[in-house]
Amino acid sequence: MRNRIRRGKTFLKSSLLCFLTILLGTMVLPKAKAQVKPVDAEGHEWWQHAVFYEIYPRSFADSNNDGVGDLNGIASKLDYLKNLGVDAVWITPCYPSPQVDFGYDVSDYENIDPMYGTLADFERLASEAHKRNIRIIMDFVMNHTSDQHPWFKESRSSRDNPKRDWYIWRDGKGPGQPPNNWESTFGGSAWQFDPTTGQYYYHYFYKQQPDLNWRNPAVEKAMFGVTRWWYQRGVAGFRLDAVDTLFEDPDLHNNPILPGKNQYGDPNMANVYNTKLPELHGVLQRLRKVADEYDAVLIGETWTKNIAELKQYYGEDNNELQMPMDFLFTKVDKLSPDEFRKQIAGVNAAGWPVYVLSNHDIVRAYVRYGDGVHNDAIAKVMAGLYLTLRGTPIMYYGEEIGMTNNDPKRRQDVKDPIGKLGWPKDKGRDGERTPMQWNTSENAGFSETKPWLPVPASYKTHNVETELKNPDSILNFYKRVLALRHDDAALRDGDYVALNKNDHNVLSYLRRYKDEAVLVALNMSSSKQQVSFDLRAQGIKANMASTLLTTMKTNQEKAALRSITLAPFSVYIGKIEE
Ligand code: NOJ
Repeated sequence: MRNRIRRGKTFLKSSLLCFLTILLGTMVLPKAKAQVKPVDAEGHEWWQHAVFYEIYPRSFADSNNDGVGDLNGIASKLDYLKNLGVDAVWITPCYPSPQVDFGYDVSDYENIDPMYGTLADFERLASEAHKRNIRIIMDFVMNHTSDQHPWFKESRSSRDNPKRDWYIWRDGKGPGQPPNNWESTFGGSAWQFDPTTGQYYYHYFYKQQPDLNWRNPAVEKAMFGVTRWWYQRGVAGFRLDAVDTLFEDPDLHNNPILPGKNQYGDPNMANVYNTKLPELHGVLQRLRKVADEYDAVLIGETWTKNIAELKQYYGEDNNELQMPMDFLFTKVDKLSPDEFRKQIAGVNAAGWPVYVLSNHDIVRAYVRYGDGVHNDAIAKVMAGLYLTLRGTPIMYYGEEIGMTNNDPKRRQDVKDPIGKLGWPKDKGRDGERTPMQWNTSENAGFSETKPWLPVPASYKTHNVETELKNPDSILNFYKRVLALRHDDAALRDGDYVALNKNDHNVLSYLRRYKDEAVLVALNMSSSKQQVSFDLRAQGIKANMASTLLTTMKTNQEKAALRSITLAPFSVYIGKIEE
């Protein structure tokens, strides 16, 4: 009896709450926009003029001093981001999660993990960001959930549970034998035996990340509903996690085995039957329709082998992802003008380019391109490159101050499970996920407690506070180039025109917009270079440029196009005088 009364009260309370939420929702939550709104007469959309910035929330700013970053920490740094020139932040998953894959194992898509704060904190962050004209992009982990998600708990409970078919369950080939030879990209078989029902479930990533069955329309409906739920809370788009892996061959053909073994000791394999299946494009087209209702952007984690594959993600009628990330650009892993030229031309022909230098899965650009001596100058060259190209750049937190990778020195210190498994060949991704370096105080001003990952020694010199005071710092260079990009129509909207295509040391190009042109010349070599530009082929008679920005110590306001001297690892950006 007592129980019934209490339940009754709870029901009344929750109905009232529900009613209030709906009422509030209709009053204050932003309404769905009917359609996409261009921001200029030429039809550019907001995300084409925006600079994006990825935040790994565990590592950005720790407001409650528990050693892990949080949403209030992010909110406290919005002015910093605004002054830097950031228009949109992509926050990697901050939903409730057992944190096996540090948030990429989601156990509730419509909430915030208490480690990061509350929904109220999220709403405050969104509203503070909105005041500063900064948009929030969330991470949509659509391929898999956590094994602790209620959907999976139901699914695994019995073979006839209504959610059974929300995941991929199959019989083994025989006792102890998985259904086929597919491997998890995080090591071992992609199949996990579940004794409760005597079947295997499929997981492309960790076994705690069972794959959703996107062939089931109920899964699509539920997951699309998640995006609406966040759009209605003011979110401006999603970065779609692991889109390549949404579908698998229903007949479970074995993948072809390739020679050699991978870093986990498994045979190399061509994932032809469990990645990039054509069915995924239908999902992306339908997801895009939902996004368009809210003027939202879809960014893709698109690991493509070549430009032709990347092109498919835009959709035949540009009706899939507006921003598939060009990871081929990150694979140009040396300062090679020739290779960058080739890659830039390719992605320009495919669609609106989306450039990244690194992220929470990729070794930081500072060490990938650095030669160990001129790393700061090289960091500026790389910024001078991807922030002046036609397309949308996505920065990775800390890149703007030259943060380095801080790989674990001992296996027992590794936090990322693949780093433990792959040690020492693969040390995992801890190195690129260390706390943001704000100042010279202990723990780099990230937290008053020992952070979840150690800060590298470089924080003494490479931190926001110190760099803001130094006009020649990487940070101040980023600020200047971002300001320029926002102000200059040619840098924002202009075409990309490659120049001096046979130069193996200097990467040069024009950004042309109407009758304006900006010249960018990047010396990627360790020696001084003399460059000369004849722009007559471009229909430009001018022979002078007015300097907009350079890393070289010069007071010269103008440069003669027939002879510009570039210091080793330097950037020159100038407006062509027409
Ligand atoms: C890609 C994410 O960027 C990575 O961090 C994660 O481990 C996998 N997807 C699985 O969600």
